[in-house]
Amino acid sequence: MSAISDHDLEEPTRRDFIHLVAGSAAAVGAAGVVVPLVHQMNPDASVLALATKEVDLSSIEVGQAIKVMWQGKPVFIRRRTAEEIAVAEETPVSDLPDDRSRNLNDEALDASDTARTTASDGVARPEWLVLVGVCTHLGCIPLGTSQGEIKGDYNGWFCPCHGSHYDTAGRIRKGPAPENLPVPPYEFISDSVVKIG
Ligand code: FES
Repeated sequence: MSAISDHDLEEPTRRDFIHLVAGSAAAVGAAGVVVPLVHQMNPDASVLALATKEVDLSSIEVGQAIKVMWQGKPVFIRRRTAEEIAVAEETPVSDLPDDRSRNLNDEALDASDTARTTASDGVARPEWLVLVGVCTHLGCIPLGTSQGEIKGDYNGWFCPCHGSHYDTAGRIRKGPAPENLPVPPYEFISDSVVKIG
């Protein structure tokens, strides 16, 4: 067995030092990579802004509707007339092809007009109807929001792709669409501003 020389004792010490320095540099480098990755995983303000949409309703007259985009989908907001509300309220749920609310603010409700106009705070505001404007048949965008567009047999919306008719509460009444137009999550953050999403 050979004796351990001074050289053997010194060499590992130098190597250890080099490894220690290299390891520290790698750790710093890894931390530098991890921080931006974690940062990227936190949704920033612009992403959150896309997830929700605030809409000022103050310029919408009674009887008018607007279309806004939310998460890449059209959303119809209609300020209904007293007559439109009355007709929708008087329609028995038992007459409807789809008797569910399809309201993401409360999916357990039936398709009554009150349920269709209920916001996330549980309050129904019959004057305002908020809908995702995508036909529940095959995804066309129904007509009836812009002035002069055909509104179908029930004075709501009409999908020209295959002839689905929705009423003044956005409920399917005739045609191949199987479900009412969905009501997105929304809340009124003031009397005239609604936040969708
Ligand atoms: S996509 Fe609307 S009726 Fe077919």
